[in-house]
Amino acid sequence: MKLNLSTENLARAVSPSPKTRSGSGSAMRHEPASAPVPDQGSTMKAIVQERYGAPQRVLKLEEIDRPSVGDDDVLIRVRATSVNTPDWITVAGVPYILRLKFGLRKPPTPVRGTDIAGVVEAVGKNVTDLQPGDEVFGSSWADTLATPGTFAEFTVAPASKLIKKPVRLTFEEAAASVMSGLTALIAIRDVGKVGPGTRVLINGASGGVGTLAVQIAKALGAEVTGVCSTRNLELVRSLGADHVIDYTEEDFTRGEQRYDVILDNVMNHPSSATAQVLTPNGMLIPNSIGNTGGFFAGLPRAARAAMMGRGSTDVQFVTCVVNRENLDALATLLESGDVNVVIDKVYPLSEAGNAVAHMLGHHAIGKVVITV
Ligand SMILES: NC(=O)c1ccc[n+]([C@@H]2O[C@H](COP(=O)([O-])OP(=O)(O)OC[C@H]3O[C@@H](n4cnc5c(N)ncnc54)[C@H](OP(=O)(O)O)[C@@H]3O)[C@@H](O)[C@H]2O)c1
Repeated sequence: MKLNLSTENLARAVSPSPKTRSGSGSAMRHEPASAPVPDQGSTMKAIVQERYGAPQRVLKLEEIDRPSVGDDDVLIRVRATSVNTPDWITVAGVPYILRLKFGLRKPPTPVRGTDIAGVVEAVGKNVTDLQPGDEVFGSSWADTLATPGTFAEFTVAPASKLIKKPVRLTFEEAAASVMSGLTALIAIRDVGKVGPGTRVLINGASGGVGTLAVQIAKALGAEVTGVCSTRNLELVRSLGADHVIDYTEEDFTRGEQRYDVILDNVMNHPSSATAQVLTPNGMLIPNSIGNTGGFFAGLPRAARAAMMGRGSTDVQFVTCVVNRENLDALATLLESGDVNVVIDKVYPLSEAGNAVAHMLGHHAIGKVVITV
């Protein structure tokens, strides 16, 4: 039995606690910056969430105070960000049980988003290796720490979660790569320990995590099978998948093939069924909070997968860890050209509601990006 994440932790992993860095819980409250910020006004345009609900209804473009910069932080002029599961979960307020943690009527902070690509505007006094004008990418994501949000003209992130943007990447590609790419990298490289010849199945191969996971597994020498719908078969093949399964035609859990590692980004089958197509020492990596709403959404299924991991099946969860080492590894893969970011659609900041709604449809092809 190998198990490293409780259901509660899984919920936290897919939907980090959205508190402000100052813990004020208010977008309008202005904390004095501990580092000098260029005098270009103290406010910014940002997408503000007033309550839970349909993205187009509850996300509004407003003028709010810029976030303050701590000693270890970097103030970034955001050029692009992307939409991830924690964003749509927090906007929609599903599964409802998460409202008990984040707030019954609305989340405690108003600005969503964690992926960042942009230009350094100012740095805290302890930051010595980044300076104004540097093009960077990274994240403000943390499972328990405060996040000021990136659906805005400016954001703040710890310098430890940023690196210089590879020149080869556009701001859109860099922003789109962060949470999905790190999740895919950690799942395939660290959790699955995928190497040459490993037989890997990726369910949800055409989504944000899936498109990157297929390519990372191939870059590590694996034999990859991607599961997606008919319209995405060619895309997944073009990303390097050796085999593709059209889930509208075939149920992979009933197939003859066996896999050493299954990364399940959809969890539309019971984990006990998915585990039936593992090799005897194979590993199941459940990686979805589920596409359904309701009180618990996919959490019971994740809990059952966790319970299964207490038996003879190797079940391992994945947590997105943002640090410079992981960002460097991701940047190296992206710079090499072995891994490319698939972008479905780019929205301007003012249409962030449409961008989040796009993700909520659960059929994005690769990533949904917001440019600022
Ligand atoms: N552990 C972590 O730290 C972490 C971080 C980020 C995300 N995640 C998890 O990773 C999962 C994937 O995220 P993502 O950003 O890749 O999501 P996404 O972009 O929305 O991916 C959706 C994928 O699901 C497939 N899909 C949708 N409905 C399906 C169905 N009924 N049957 C089979 N496949 C279906 C889609 O394929 P078609 O369009 O072809 O139908 C697409 O490939 C999420 O559930 C999220 O919770 C975890």
